[in-house]
Amino acid sequence: MRRAVYPGSFDPITNGHLDIIKRSSKVFDEVVVGVLVNPDKKGLFDIDERVTLIQKCIAEFPNVKVQSFSGLLINFMKSVDAKVIVKGLRAVSDFEYEFQMALMNNKLNPNIETVFMMTNAKYSYLSSSSVKQVAMFGGCIKGLVPNEISDDIISKVNKEGDKGIWKL
Ligand code: PNS
Repeated sequence: MRRAVYPGSFDPITNGHLDIIKRSSKVFDEVVVGVLVNPDKKGLFDIDERVTLIQKCIAEFPNVKVQSFSGLLINFMKSVDAKVIVKGLRAVSDFEYEFQMALMNNKLNPNIETVFMMTNAKYSYLSSSSVKQVAMFGGCIKGLVPNEISDDIISKVNKEGDKGIWKL
């Protein structure tokens, strides 16, 4: 069984992420979306909320699962018995950071490979941060995030936006 992990913060999942999930679900037998619990970075959504939002969007992909994790990605990979990390690459600016992470993960465990998928050109400008910013200032997020979760994002931003404690 070829199982891959697609890791990230997913605060929240966007259509760009979902595109990578959809495409990687065709390449691998199983894809585990790994949501990082990062105690240093206060997000808009807490971890359980991020997982729930992702669950709403992956219902149509039977070989995709979602799980949260903390600590090192390679340890999470071991716990779910996966040897491949899937990452999406947008612009050249993503490359340096992703290259460094891929090399570090491979150094920590040489059996782990990182596979990059070029983000669909339709979504190359898209990020969770920009979605939050657009939503916070009342812009339209239709087409940026899966339809199933756009109301959740708008109501969360309306509830939390004025607190200004979460990171864009
Ligand atoms: O969506 P993001 O924030 O770009 O995702 C980053 C993520 C979660 C993939 C990365 O921060 C990560 O893997 N964190 C776990 C800690 C780790 O394993 N670090 C070693 C590699 S440098």
